[in-house]
Amino acid sequence: MLGPVLLAAARSDGIRRLVAAAPVTRPVVDRYIAGEGLGDAMSAVRALTGRGLDVTLDHLGEDITDPAEARRNRDAYLALCDALAAEGLAERAEMSVKLSAFGQALPGGHDVALANVTPVVEAAAAAGTTVTLDMEDHTTADSTLAVLAELRRSHPQTGAVLQSYLFRTEDDCRALAGEGSRVRLVKGAYKEPASVAFQDKHEVDRAYVRCLGILMAGRGHPMIGSHDPRMVAIAQELARRTGRKPGDYEFQMLYGIREAEQRRLADEGHRMRVYVPYGTDWYGYFMRRLAERPANLAFFLRSLATR
Ligand code: FDA
Repeated sequence: MLGPVLLAAARSDGIRRLVAAAPVTRPVVDRYIAGEGLGDAMSAVRALTGRGLDVTLDHLGEDITDPAEARRNRDAYLALCDALAAEGLAERAEMSVKLSAFGQALPGGHDVALANVTPVVEAAAAAGTTVTLDMEDHTTADSTLAVLAELRRSHPQTGAVLQSYLFRTEDDCRALAGEGSRVRLVKGAYKEPASVAFQDKHEVDRAYVRCLGILMAGRGHPMIGSHDPRMVAIAQELARRTGRKPGDYEFQMLYGIREAEQRRLADEGHRMRVYVPYGTDWYGYFMRRLAERPANLAFFLRSLATR
């Protein structure tokens, strides 16, 4: 029951101020976030790639309401791209972007977001890496997939995220299962109404398996974004049945979650990519991680109580 409350809190400015001001929040946040600056992000990239893991970097930010902030977020990704290229890490590290950080919710949001994300996609291609568009709440899905379609005309390697909790996603998987497409399949992290999304966890899991079946049988590059051991095992079985080699798909998990499993999969020869968030705007991301697992909330509350 706590999950929906935390997801609602993730969008509350009042609670954001309270949580950000709590003196104990930072150590808990640090479990999930690589740090605030580009230097912290690059240290995490070096450490993870040194251990045989690949990376996707998220410069934290979402739901911006000011065009200047969208441009600052674009510039942060351009600087990240330069840093990856300068250190020869572009082959191992790609970038994940949220279009709401690029102006998607502003008036004319589709064009604003496309104008801001295009230079990032171009810089990524020039540096030898790629961009994946994160998926946010369901009201943004059509716009995000439309931006994806436009970007893929010139940069077909641009990736997308699909969320198995949405009723629409099996159709979206079919549409994006073709040659060259890169799709990260996740269960979904936002509070969605029963009119558009499964509410029952088992239904979401069953939908995940159906979607995975479509992507693994297709000709694209499926990216299995889940910490769920059953989904990881099913993906391996589907890869075996469809004759996919380790480089033809990849596993993805979030920074700080199931790290031993991340290393185990990499050691077994799988491509294992870690999603590394960094930056100062960590609140929404952090609250979604708390909502996913009651034990995380207990950890957070315990740290408050022991101060
Ligand atoms: P599930 O929630 O069923 O958890 C399975 C097991 O994983 C748990 O029992 C626990 O062991 C572990 N676990 C899961 N979450 C944990 C946590 N927070 N802390 C500690 N342990 C945890 N969503 C979205 O809507 N849009 C997006 O763009 C993305 N992008 C994205 C990228 C990547 C690389 C990943 C892995 C996930 C996302 N997500 C996302 C989040 C996703 O939708 C989902 O909320 C989480 O991955 C949790 O779902 P699981 O599939 O891991 O399974």
